[in-house]
Amino acid sequence: MKRTGRLAAVCAELSPCARFADVGCDHGYCTQFMLENGLCRSAVISDVSAKSLAKAEKLLQAYIGEGRVQSVCCAGLSAVPPCDEVLIAGMGGEEIVSILREGFLPPQLVLQPMKNAPKVRAFLLESGYRILHDYTYFEGRKRYHILRAAKAPAEEELSAGAVQGYGAAELAFGRDNLLTPSAAFLRYLEGEIAALGARMAAANGPLPAAKRRLQLAEAALAAARGGRHEHP
Ligand SMILES: C[S@@+](CC[C@H](N)C(=O)[O-])C[C@H]1O[C@@H](n2cnc3c(N)ncnc32)[C@H](O)[C@@H]1O
Repeated sequence: MKRTGRLAAVCAELSPCARFADVGCDHGYCTQFMLENGLCRSAVISDVSAKSLAKAEKLLQAYIGEGRVQSVCCAGLSAVPPCDEVLIAGMGGEEIVSILREGFLPPQLVLQPMKNAPKVRAFLLESGYRILHDYTYFEGRKRYHILRAAKAPAEEELSAGAVQGYGAAELAFGRDNLLTPSAAFLRYLEGEIAALGARMAAANGPLPAAKRRLQLAEAALAAARGGRHEHP
């Protein structure tokens, strides 16, 4: 299968590991990518929906037959055995955080939240991860936040967030977007500023969270246009 667009961008973040898990796998293409490219010895495919999981089982039936892929129908990580790398893509950020809180924290994570990416970033940092890549993939008018993170060494774990020094703008927009802003990211900031401004103008009372995000977006846009990388 040819993986293009969002799935290709997600697969590009996956690293070699012994056992890989794709939580909410649906079609199973990412696990197929890992196996076809020799990036993992074995894999776990899981989905809360038996119907979705059946698609991945069909795609990966030869690997299941060889005993290299284990299929589990469950919510989140509840029946997934420990794995070295876990992918959770195409779900909301709050759902992703709740899956990880209730499950286990693997050494490597690739996450692609559909929304609430700032909550995912905050969770990773407070849970002792280093965020290694954190950017927005744009496909036409759609945008996808893609994060790759690795557990910090034990001696750094408690202070991983502090070590990385994520500021408010980085939590809001992702560090790599701010350090190397693409043209699409600048257009996104412009749209965000217009939308937040319109929302605040139409509101009856103050909207402190929207006001703060507007300030962050304006500062990020100014810094990107000025070639500076300083953010509040
Ligand atoms: C939009 S699809 C994304 C599929 C694939 N991960 C991707 O990125 O293309 C979301 C999948 O996650 C599954 N799902 C949603 N919530 C889940 C949960 N809490 N635990 C496991 N699977 C879940 C759905 O059944 C669905 O198959």
